[in-house]
This record gives sequence, C-alpha cells and structure tokens, in this order.
Amino acid sequence: MTGDPGVNNLDVRQSYQRCRSEGAFLGRFLARFLSSDKRVDATLGRYTKARQEVILDQSVRAVIQQSRSGSAPADGIHRVVQVHSPHGDVPIDPSLYPIWVESLIATIKETDPEWVAALEPEWRAAIAPAVDVLMELHMAGRPGGDRGGASRV
Ligand code: HEM
Repeated sequence: MTGDPGVNNLDVRQSYQRCRSEGAFLGRFLARFLSSDKRVDATLGRYTKARQEVILDQSVRAVIQQSRSGSAPADGIHRVVQVHSPHGDVPIDPSLYPIWVESLIATIKETDPEWVAALEPEWRAAIAPAVDVLMELHMAGRPGGDRGGASRV
C-alpha cells in the first residue's frame, strides 16, 4: 500500500508462505519458467529437477529479502550479482529477468489459495528493487560498457 519498498512486505511474505505450503508451487513455477524461453532450459537443464526447484526458491527468497531492505543491496542480492553477473559462474542475460518475473507472478496467482488482485501490485513492487539492482549492476559491469563510468559495486 505504501509503495515504499523496504517498509512493509508482510503481505508478500505471507503470500509466498502460502504458495510454498502448497506442495506444487516450485514444480509449477519451474515448468512455466522452462517453457517460457529456450535459454532457461539451456541454463537450468544441467541440474536435477530437485536442484532446479531449490534454485528457484532461493531466487524468490533473495528478491523478498531485497525488498525488505529497501534500496541498499542486501546480502542475498550481492550473492546473486556475483553468480549472475557477466563474469559470474552463471551469467544471466538481463532479458531473462522479466521472464522470471512473469513466470513467478502467474504461478503465484494460480497457487496462492488467498490470492486477491490487490496482491499483484504488492508483489510487483517487492520484486522491482531486486530486478533493478541486477539490471543496473549488469549494465555497469559490462566490459567496455556503454554507460561509461567505472562501477564500485
Ligand atoms: C530476478 C531473477 C533471479 C534471481 C533473484 C536469482 C537468484 C539466484 C540465487 C539467490 C541463486 C543462489 C546463489 C547461491 O549459490 O547462493 C541463484 C542461482 C542460480 N540461478 Fe538465479 N536468479 C534469477 C534469475 C535466474 C535466471 C533467469 C536463471 C536461468 C535462466 C537462473 C539460473 C540460476 C542457476 C543455474 C543457479 C545455480 C548456480 C549454482 O548453484 O551453480 N537464475 N539465482
């Protein structure tokens, strides 16, 4: 309601708890995410299904943690940046982030037993800071980057 990320994401955290207590959530998210873009399968396909689900759960938790901490990058996101930056172990093209977001939202909508329309903007507001941090740092870290300045982050 406040529109101020980092202040109150209780609704989002509770929504995620309800989703996770429905056993099917991670499997559904994974299936939708994999079928959204070939590059997802190319990246995740080398892990077992169980591991793929853990990775997705970690990604959602990192995003929720980031939204609790406001604009300062939280530890979880620092770790994600290390892993997913162009020089990280698993570089992710930033064009895949919106696909992750839409797969997540669609899966929450169909899984959260107490879903109401008002949760969608809350979820989107919670996700945005993390995706912004990832996009921003990805651009800043690009070798010979087109944004000029050196990044300290
Ligand atoms: C907003 C989007 C995303 C977030 C917040 C995120 C977050 C994370 C986190 C927290 C981890 C665990 C890092 C650790 O080891 O501690 C991780 C690992 C991983 N992510 Fe993502 N991720 C995102 C998008 C993606 C996308 C789009 C893909 C694939 C297309 C992907 C593939 C992976 C893989 C394969 C790993 C495993 C690395 C390993 O254990 O070797 N992620 N991600």
